[in-house]
Amino acid sequence: MADEGDVLAAEVGKALAGRGLSVRHQAWEAAPAGTPTGSWAGLILVAPLQERPFHPGVLAWLQRAAKAFPRSGDRRAFLVGLIRLDGQFGLGPLRPDTPVGQSGLAGWIKTARWEWPHVACKVIDVAPEWSEAPEMAEEVAAEVLADGPIEIGLSEPWQRWVPVLKEEPLDGLRGDGPLQPDDVVLITGGGRGVTADLAQALAEAGRGTLVLVGRTPLPTGDLPSWWPESEEEAVLKRAVAEHLGPGASPRQIQEQYQLRRAQQELQRTLQRLSAQGARIAYYSLDIADQAAVQHLVAEVRQRWGPITRLIHGAGVLADRRLEDLTAEQFERVYRTKVIGLEHLLAALGQEPLRTLAVFSSTTARLGRTGQGAYACANEVLNKLMQREARRRPQTRVIAFNWGPWDGGMVTSALKRLFAAEGVGLIPRQAGGRYGAWEIQKWDSGVEIVISARTSGKDVPTFALTLAGTSPVGGTGEPLAAPRMPSRGNGEGTAFRSNGVTPHPAPPRGAEMTLAFERPLDVSNHPVLADHVLEGRAVVPVALHLEWLAHAAVHRHPGLQFCGCDQLRIYHGLMLEASESAVLQVWCGPSSRQDGGYWQTVEVRSRGAAGREWLHARACVLVAEQWPAPPPTEPIPEGGQPWPWSMEDTYEHLLFHGPQWRGVRHIQKLEDDLWLARVRTAPPPAQWLTSPLRSAWLADPLVLDGALQLLIVAAYEHYQLRCLPVALGRYRQYRRHFPATETTVLLRLRCREHALVQADIEFRDDHGLIAQIQDCEAVLQEQLARAFRNNRLRSH
Ligand SMILES: NC(=O)c1ccc[n+]([C@@H]2O[C@H](COP(=O)([O-])OP(=O)(O)OC[C@H]3O[C@@H](n4cnc5c(N)ncnc54)[C@H](OP(=O)(O)O)[C@@H]3O)[C@@H](O)[C@H]2O)c1
Repeated sequence: MADEGDVLAAEVGKALAGRGLSVRHQAWEAAPAGTPTGSWAGLILVAPLQERPFHPGVLAWLQRAAKAFPRSGDRRAFLVGLIRLDGQFGLGPLRPDTPVGQSGLAGWIKTARWEWPHVACKVIDVAPEWSEAPEMAEEVAAEVLADGPIEIGLSEPWQRWVPVLKEEPLDGLRGDGPLQPDDVVLITGGGRGVTADLAQALAEAGRGTLVLVGRTPLPTGDLPSWWPESEEEAVLKRAVAEHLGPGASPRQIQEQYQLRRAQQELQRTLQRLSAQGARIAYYSLDIADQAAVQHLVAEVRQRWGPITRLIHGAGVLADRRLEDLTAEQFERVYRTKVIGLEHLLAALGQEPLRTLAVFSSTTARLGRTGQGAYACANEVLNKLMQREARRRPQTRVIAFNWGPWDGGMVTSALKRLFAAEGVGLIPRQAGGRYGAWEIQKWDSGVEIVISARTSGKDVPTFALTLAGTSPVGGTGEPLAAPRMPSRGNGEGTAFRSNGVTPHPAPPRGAEMTLAFERPLDVSNHPVLADHVLEGRAVVPVALHLEWLAHAAVHRHPGLQFCGCDQLRIYHGLMLEASESAVLQVWCGPSSRQDGGYWQTVEVRSRGAAGREWLHARACVLVAEQWPAPPPTEPIPEGGQPWPWSMEDTYEHLLFHGPQWRGVRHIQKLEDDLWLARVRTAPPPAQWLTSPLRSAWLADPLVLDGALQLLIVAAYEHYQLRCLPVALGRYRQYRRHFPATETTVLLRLRCREHALVQADIEFRDDHGLIAQIQDCEAVLQEQLARAFRNNRLRSH
């Protein structure tokens, strides 16, 4: 393992040793020389916790591994990259201060999988809040040794995610650009290549100022008279050779040729844009030069006003297989893409941008033989954009993950290669227009993958796919593969990604204030001793809901708790018998809407080491009056009673101890419609030593009973146990649940990968008491063991 000795690395090492492997930890800088050929079972690269340049180190390690991995034998070697973004590859609750340079590791590993088919490659993204938990190290170790998708996110034990891609037609594509007259658009790489095609599409509306940047110096006049009219590379090179005379070396000829060619292309771009009526300027500089970038930004501001949009298209290739790539070639690619962008963002500071777009590549999403450096740099760009999107909520932030275009850096040799692979090329004008269209959209994701359909290069249609992360089943199971082409970069259709799971907007720390705080352990919350998984007391969703509701009501005295939206458990709150934590509930500012007040509320805790965890978050609704209940359908007659007694159900299927055994009867009414009768909770003082209130705001036993019904119904359908992770919408229509018993009606809606969804109604003779819509639970094979282990552990 290459690591910096942090807790996760140390614990994963121990967990692997416990599985019989001999583990060696080495510092990043010390890729061991002289390792005997074929002697490594695998290599785990643990990205540093601090932002620092470590990718040359990755390359050195990969080059060692190429020799040390066995090429044949019964077991495949493994290559694993361990990163800590948000447990969902930046598509989940990514924090705005996350070091995202580590994501380049994913680019390297996605490349290695094409170059080294004899090696099992995987990138694991562990949620930072969980990275020090012992059970997470166990999960990572299991993941390292299991087959499965190339990218797997672990947001907490039992929550595994894979990025998914969804196709979407390009319905609204229009050619008109989004620019306004006061727009000042800085476009690196815009003088030539495919970024110039986007500049062209933007200029078509003829508004705003386009400032193009490239290294090529502007030609001082027309191209020289000896430069032929031809577009043929051989003809042009011959003319250069003749002009330089017989003493010219092949290298001098190549350099002169490239310079003249670039100048010719640049001149054509400038003429085309001027003809559109756009105000344009061109600056010649290397964006990896920080002083030059600062000077550029200052001058543009002075001449044209604030920069309103940044499009970073500058990029270079240095394609080599991993074993042959040099550190200098890697640096060239990385400096232009990543360091160049960092210089630009630093020079722009907090300037409010309307658009921030980068040109990344399908190579970052999928990997491609020979493009390790390029995949690394582009993957860092992708996650830099995810982070900027969190930092700049007013800006349309996009990482265009382009497939190959019919131009730019795609030379005729590459075109032949793509044709042989059956990969379509993005037509230049259509690509530019699509980019201009996407910039105007606000309802799209950040990482968008686009490539041409393979049916022929004249077809200007390419579809888009939305991707986010989707939960998947247990480690090492045969997983439903995410929709990915079976080959490298560019195959198939195009994809757009964003988070599928809707989270409430991440609150800014400064806006949240502490509503209440109290010590939390099993002795002052004895009811938790009957809610135990894997030997630890777990706070049920229903108690989180009480705390969230209490905080909101406490902030608005006299108003009633009416429900919440998007209640999500981010991190289970678990305690051993002797463990204690400080429970904190934080509130955001309230906003008035729908006749009530909405407030983001979070349940957090501080553990013994002072570490803070976010456990649950919801937007809570309080109002003067409860809403009127919507009409309900009559409950169908008949059905079949659940064949197990409730005692057997609790003993063999569920995990709940006596105080949570509220379900008295279960009936299956239709294939996906279930009914249960559930007891009302005793007063809070019977469950907690110092309750917050004398009466519950909802009813934790009834709510938990409904979730127990979900576990039973899902088990009957899928033979897997599940745990609830989110309530999409909860509404309560009166102050109290009935004094004795509530009827719970549950409709299983669908199962997607390992996620099961349901809608639940709570009724009595007077009608609807409350309702949950879009309840989500994660199905997992391992839960069977966790459910069985329901005695509180103490050591
Ligand atoms: N073409 C494709 O199929 C494709 C596919 C996926 C992604 N992309 C991405 O799209 C972008 C443009 O690619 P392209 O195909 O148009 O390549 P290209 O024809 O080689 O153009 C690259 C552009 O970047 C500029 N550039 C490179 N290094 C620079 C530096 N250090 N400072 C300032 N400008 C610099 C170049 O201008 P100078 O040479 O004048 O510096 C040129 O305008 C790249 O980021 C590439 O990764 C392209």
